Amino acid sequence: MYQVPQVCDSIYYVGVNDRMKALFENMWSLPSGVAYNSYLIVDECTTLIDTVDVCYSDIFFHKLDLVLKGRPLDYLIVNHMEPDHGGSIGLLRKRYPQMQIVGNKKTFDMLRGFHGITEGLHEVKSGDALRIGRHEFSFLMAPMVHWPEVMFTYEQTSRTLFTADAFGAFGALDGILFDSQLADRSAYFREMRRYYATVIGKYGSFVQKALTNMQRQGLDVDFVCPTHGVVWTKEGFGEALALYERLSRFASEPGAVVLYGSMYGNTEQLADVIAQSLAAHGVEQVVCHNVSKSDPSVILSDIFRHRGLIIGSPTYCGELFSPIEHLLQLIRIRDVKDRLYAAFGSYTWAPGSVKRLLPFAEEMKWELVGEAVELKMSDLGTVLDAGWSLGQAMAERIKASCSPDSIQ
Ligand SMILES: Cc1cc2nc3c(=O)[nH]c(=O)nc-3n(C[C@H](O)[C@H](O)[C@H](O)COP(=O)(O)O)c2cc1C
Ligand SMILES: [Fe+2]
Ligand SMILES: [Fe+2]
Repeated sequence: MYQVPQVCDSIYYVGVNDRMKALFENMWSLPSGVAYNSYLIVDECTTLIDTVDVCYSDIFFHKLDLVLKGRPLDYLIVNHMEPDHGGSIGLLRKRYPQMQIVGNKKTFDMLRGFHGITEGLHEVKSGDALRIGRHEFSFLMAPMVHWPEVMFTYEQTSRTLFTADAFGAFGALDGILFDSQLADRSAYFREMRRYYATVIGKYGSFVQKALTNMQRQGLDVDFVCPTHGVVWTKEGFGEALALYERLSRFASEPGAVVLYGSMYGNTEQLADVIAQSLAAHGVEQVVCHNVSKSDPSVILSDIFRHRGLIIGSPTYCGELFSPIEHLLQLIRIRDVKDRLYAAFGSYTWAPGSVKRLLPFAEEMKWELVGEAVELKMSDLGTVLDAGWSLGQAMAERIKASCSPDSIQ
């Protein structure tokens, strides 16, 4: 007989899988979909933690009905208001008009703005508690662990921490709920990093604060329940925490990304020379991305992973090739820290790309490595040695500056 999945005896998983949406936030690819997680705690009072994207509200309400069996919903705790989680709040309130909504001041401003809800609110601050019978919740503000209103909720009886987007990943839950059930753990961690780089990326310092706060509370945690991806068990969570700790510091592995644009293949040939040199000089992880073909979320994810970044662009109407300009903007707004950077480019009549790529080092406060290389038309022979030297200089800096520890 069908049973609604459970995190533990009193916590039901009532989230949904979205395998329809092509792009998360209309930007980031979803090859394996995404899950919007929501959790229902059944006690003297019934309490829901977060909702789902409004496109899935029908199936979501059906799941709630299966668990509630006619009981009303007493509380909704809102850890995050972004519409992938807050989208069904308006409809939920219509179904359960008596439901109290638990959140902080910033949550309530957004509740009014997104759903016109101004009543039936229960405001909480860090350290406040809410008892619903056997279960008691406490709240930990985690501002900017994606949005300003984000908070974590801890339930002490089940020792469960609900962490909004933190520790989440892209990918629907294919029949499973817990990290211990993952068939391919390293693929999962790759999707977790891609999620972090695209969605959380810029807010490393806030993630660090939230992690410190979590540790300071000394919470005894059996389950960590994010709003996307698997539920972490006590055994598996250490690895997720370690990844977050590294990502939030912009820590890197001793690899390099060669990111280039090319209309007719000249810049690409120079990219290949640099990549060969990197590998020949001992960089084991070299990833080349053609900006017009590679998935931008994968490019960002690789940039979050590797220490070296070498960017090349043809000159385009005196400027950078536009897709490279766009990628620079994606990197810029994430404020990626502490990378080794080098530039190369190409032109036919009036060079422009390299002089526009070079100031990016200073802007990002990155170390500029080697001599930038500029190719005129198809005359690759004249820049082979310069390209080789650039790759070598980068390889040497990567090896000298990276500790050998690595993340997945
Ligand atoms: C639409 C377009 C605009 C270009 N604008 C310039 C330019 O402003 N200055 C220049 O020196 N070369 C310009 N070029 C020439 C390219 O930068 C040059 O041919 C370069 O080698 C192209 O590299 P690729 O083969 O990697 O695409 C332009 C080429 C195209 C197709
Ligand atoms: Fe979010
Ligand atoms: Fe989310």
